[in-house]
Amino acid sequence: MQTLTVSDVDLVYPGHLDGAPISALKGVSLEVKSGDFVVALGASGCGKTTLLNLMAGFMAPSAGKITLGGRPVTGPGAERGVVFQKHALLPWLNIIDNVEFGLKLQGVDARTRRERAVKNLALVGLEDFHKQMIYHLSGGMQQRVGIARALTCDPAMLLMDEPMAALDALTRETVQELLLKIWQQTDKMYFFITHSVEEALFLGSRLIVMSPRPGRITHTYDLDFNRRFLAEGNSRAIKSSRDFIEMREEILGIIYGDERAGAKERLDA
Ligand SMILES: Nc1ncnc2c1ncn2[C@@H]1O[C@H](COP(=O)(O)OP(=O)(O)O)[C@@H](O)[C@H]1O
Ligand SMILES: [Mg+2]
Repeated sequence: MQTLTVSDVDLVYPGHLDGAPISALKGVSLEVKSGDFVVALGASGCGKTTLLNLMAGFMAPSAGKITLGGRPVTGPGAERGVVFQKHALLPWLNIIDNVEFGLKLQGVDARTRRERAVKNLALVGLEDFHKQMIYHLSGGMQQRVGIARALTCDPAMLLMDEPMAALDALTRETVQELLLKIWQQTDKMYFFITHSVEEALFLGSRLIVMSPRPGRITHTYDLDFNRRFLAEGNSRAIKSSRDFIEMREEILGIIYGDERAGAKERLDA
């Protein structure tokens, strides 16, 4: 069992030119444990990507601290895999070579690399596509390769920044379902960003809602729609159930409030 802890974290970006510094995160605390699927949701500019980048170790907090297994996070590490919104695959390599790439950098031998890549490509349903080139793939397949690549390094944590945002609605549902099946089979920490309320409710075992200016966590919900899907197998039935819709409307109210306030602020400026 692993735990990533974010304790009272602030992040201030220096202002552009003569502009004032931007308080992107203020007093953010969060704990993610193995088996948790934490989803962050909020209006654009509320600091979701900043929080993920801090957890990934791409930058350091201005105040507060982040630890993994009790040790401070001081930079990126193989125990934290990142899946980006736009896949970051190497177009000159085929699927399986892309999936093995991280292990190759780590110096893992060819046979072990291949075994792990084959296993994880099967997990994302791409067992028949090992030799295909990346540019031949649909957006949904590219994201599945990105997920397989992150899983192949066997990280304790998967960090995902709006990985479904560019997918069409149908593909998005398929990849959401796939992700929950992978979650069920792997005892990892998941941190997933989205601006779709429906996606957040469906995927998360915990939902954090963030608000901008300064970015902070304003609401936390424990959810079990994902477990219901894994038990029942019908995502449409869950997404159209009464309690799902009530929750969706409640959260939309919070986020629309923030979006409207932001739009008014921009108009007034
Ligand atoms: N590199 C940066 N330099 C200055 N300001 C930034 C930088 N990155 C993000 N910001 C600002 O910090 C705030 C939070 O941004 P971000 O974390 O990208 O939010 P989100 O992912 O929720 O849309 C925004 O006001 C954004 O303009
Ligand atoms: Mg973002």
